This record gives sequence, C-alpha cells and structure tokens, in this order.
Amino acid sequence: MTDQFIGLLRAATLADRRPVDDRACIEGMLSNSNLIVTARDSEKLVGMARSMTDFHFACYLSDLAVDEKYQKRGIGKKLQELTQQQLGPKCKLILVTAPNANDYFKQVGYRHNPRCWWLERDQRIR
Ligand SMILES: CC(C)(COP(=O)(O)OP(=O)(O)OC[C@H]1O[C@@H](n2cnc3c(N)ncnc32)[C@H](O)[C@@H]1OP(=O)(O)O)[C@@H](O)C(=O)NCCC(=O)NCCS
Repeated sequence: MTDQFIGLLRAATLADRRPVDDRACIEGMLSNSNLIVTARDSEKLVGMARSMTDFHFACYLSDLAVDEKYQKRGIGKKLQELTQQQLGPKCKLILVTAPNANDYFKQVGYRHNPRCWWLERDQRIR
C-alpha cells in the first residue's frame, strides 16, 4: 500500500507537498489514519481520501488525491461523500487545501475559515 500511495501522490501532483521520499513517514501516515476511502481502476489505486477522525465532532481530511489522468470525473466528490457517510451528524470535514485546489473546495460546498492556524513541529510554544 505504501508504494501505491506514493505513486498516487505523485500522479495527483501532490509529491511536492507530501513527504514522498520519507517512507517511514508515509507508512506512519497510512497506519495511523482511521478513515481511508480509496478509488481503484481494477487493481490500480487512482484516488484516496485519507482522514483522522473521532467520528463525532471533527474529521481532518489530510489527503484528497486523484490521479491526474482520472480527475474531473467525479471521483474526488465520491471519495468525500463516502467519507462523510461514515461520520456522525455533528461531524465536520476540515482540511487545508493545496493552492491549486482552493476553488475546487469552494465549488463543492466547503466554507472557508480564515481562523485556521498551524504550528510546525520544530516551532516551540512561546
Ligand atoms: C482536488 C481533486 C482531489 C479533485 O478531484 P476530482 O476527481 O478531479 O474532482 P471531481 O471530479 O469530483 O470534481 C467535482 C467538480 O469540481 C470541478 N473541479 C475539479 N478540479 C477543480 C479545480 N482544481 N478547481 C475548480 N474546480 C475543479 C470539476 O470540474 C467538477 O465540477 P462539476 O461537478 O461541475 O462537473 C484533484 O484535482 C486532485 O487530486 N488534485 C491534486 C491534489 C490536491 O490538490 N488535493 C487537494 C488538497 S489535499
């Protein structure tokens, strides 16, 4: 699965925004996610929604990736619908978008929150 996921990240043009050269990190990302939905063409992995969630309040959609050759066919929407179907009625989907997908998430119905904050691992709490 690790190699397929790395291949998908590359094919979805996400390789420069994900640690594709750090296999241990990619393995940890997969094995510690508790909600993963995949799209396949026969055996080939062509899409994935990878999330971490409590299923009740918040679901962080960390990677939504569709192989460039399979984009704009509704696969991304379907992956999000299937993810959402697993969540309780009060559970929000939350994500940080890649710059080129900003318009996409607006188009499919997400609301934008300018109060999103993050802290890099090498930054200290002051
Ligand atoms: C963003 C992404 C997941 C969308 O997947 P997809 O399978 O192409 O999306 P869908 O086919 O479900 O698109 C649904 C609608 O959004 C539109 N759309 C697709 N990509 C778009 C984009 N980049 N900007 C604006 N609209 C877009 C589609 O035309 C479609 O419109 P329609 O319903 O009116 O026909 C895919 O383009 C991708 O993997 N991009 C690179 C990785 C990335 O940026 N991921 C998101 C951040 S983690």
